[in-house]
Amino acid sequence: MARAVARIDLGAVERNCARLKAELREDAELCAVVKADGYGHGADACAGAALAGGATRLAVATGAEAAQIGRRLPQIPLLTMGALAPDELGDALAAGSEVAVWRDGFRQLLAARGRAQGRAVRVHVKHDSGMGRLGNPDPSEVLALARACAEDPLLELAGVWTHFATADEPDSAFFNEQLDRFAAVAAAVKAEFPGVIAHAANSAAVFRDPAAHFDMARCGVAIYGLDPLQGDPAERGLAPALSLHSYVADVKRFRAGASAGYGQAWRAPADTWVGVLPLGYGDGVRRGLSNNAEVLIGGRRHPLVGTVSMDNLTVDLGPETDVEPGDAAVLIGSQGEESICAEEIAQRLGTINYEITCGISARVQREAA
Ligand SMILES: Cc1ncc(COP(=O)(O)O)c(C=O)c1O
Repeated sequence: MARAVARIDLGAVERNCARLKAELREDAELCAVVKADGYGHGADACAGAALAGGATRLAVATGAEAAQIGRRLPQIPLLTMGALAPDELGDALAAGSEVAVWRDGFRQLLAARGRAQGRAVRVHVKHDSGMGRLGNPDPSEVLALARACAEDPLLELAGVWTHFATADEPDSAFFNEQLDRFAAVAAAVKAEFPGVIAHAANSAAVFRDPAAHFDMARCGVAIYGLDPLQGDPAERGLAPALSLHSYVADVKRFRAGASAGYGQAWRAPADTWVGVLPLGYGDGVRRGLSNNAEVLIGGRRHPLVGTVSMDNLTVDLGPETDVEPGDAAVLIGSQGEESICAEEIAQRLGTINYEITCGISARVQREAA
């Protein structure tokens, strides 16, 4: 009996990576994205599983994440993808991470850091092909920046890259526009610097178009067995790695009209039994699931009723029940024949599966399964 545990099936992460690797063009590398603590799954353990499944590189977003991964896996090429404030940059470089560059001022700062550390900084020049976030939107400036990096002995030009805005929208023509723009930039850079790797694809793009694979794909969501298109992961041969478990702390009789939780947001329509589970939004079970979710107990779905509190939530067990205090409860995952996936919860909340697993808080124990 544990209050709130996220079980992480590392074998599933490994198999999902093997599945992605098989989908990739033959010589394209798989880079496993383990930022945000591996999308809530635990970065260290998932990085190891991803490498076992065929990933050959890792990526994170922040300096602190780079420090964590670089310390454990110093031999694996690591890319820090995010913008880096000076302190963070120090953490990323000390961890041996490669970094992104898209402005000349930052290139100069990186060269100064290269001189200070007595070792060239490996850089990936980022093209903003349409995401409208990080990266340089001007193809000629991207090429000029790549040349400046390649010519500077304090820097090593390792990559040219971009990120798609609509890879997960099957009807979006904008994906092809971005792909065309980046393909031209990548070809120009690689014509002068053939050793450089070009990369663009996230998980959705891997499944969408082999032309987006280039030399490497940066996959996050799919390695955890979450569906990049918010559908059924099994349809793409992916298996969810995370399940979220709790237990029934109490079972109590409710008379018709009795209410559960803050604000009396639910009243028993008839006499019933209510189970109390000792987890809540402090664990990442979002308050928006109040009167708007189901929980598995005894292999059956039961409606979550009333307001989700920080540390508790309540479940309607029905007028007759064999559920007892101590029984296992599953909020994400399978029990018997039933299963609830992160995509279902995301849909109820009007969000995406990424946010569901990233939102499972640090208070929830992660357990390798
Ligand atoms: C720059 C970049 N590349 C790759 C990824 C991985 O994307 P996904 O999780 O959709 O595979 C992300 C994730 O948000 C990202 O920000």
